[in-house]
Amino acid sequence: MATEFELNGQPVTVDIENDTPLLWALRDDLDLTGTKYGCGIGMCGACTVLVNGRAIRSCITPVEAVSGASITTIEGLHPDGQHPLQKAWVETQTPQCGYCQSGQIMQAAAMLKDFPEPTDAQINQAMGGNLCRCMAYVRIREAIKLAAQEMKEARSTKEQETGAATNE
Ligand code: FES
Ligand code: FES
Repeated sequence: MATEFELNGQPVTVDIENDTPLLWALRDDLDLTGTKYGCGIGMCGACTVLVNGRAIRSCITPVEAVSGASITTIEGLHPDGQHPLQKAWVETQTPQCGYCQSGQIMQAAAMLKDFPEPTDAQINQAMGGNLCRCMAYVRIREAIKLAAQEMKEARSTKEQETGAATNE
């Protein structure tokens, strides 16, 4: 049966069984293979995407559950792959094998909405369900903090520009 939703800003329709996991709709029907299959039971975080801005495990989310929702995958996080998290990931050379990293970045993107300047404890708690077999956890935390800093500076610059424009 057809399910319609928004994917990375574009309306899409998939004509598949309602209980098909969103992960397979993304990978097999919509050719977005950045989202990975790890455990298939919601335990590793490799398949994390954003649904209406919140991080979910796409391997255990039936496609019918996202009907009408807005979904963001790693491919849609930034049009040029230049989201502060993506830039920080490169700068800190965070990935090792890379397999878990799309899920890590999407989980981090959701976390930074709740905690724009996260502490180690907040990062550990928010990211604790995203497993990395290569044990890149220290670099992941470093990259998140670097991205948070860049985003903070961008907010500050924007506030100054808005203030200057208001005072003109
Ligand atoms: S593949 Fe979805 S949580 Fe592991
Ligand atoms: S970088 Fe290899 S599993 Fe995380």
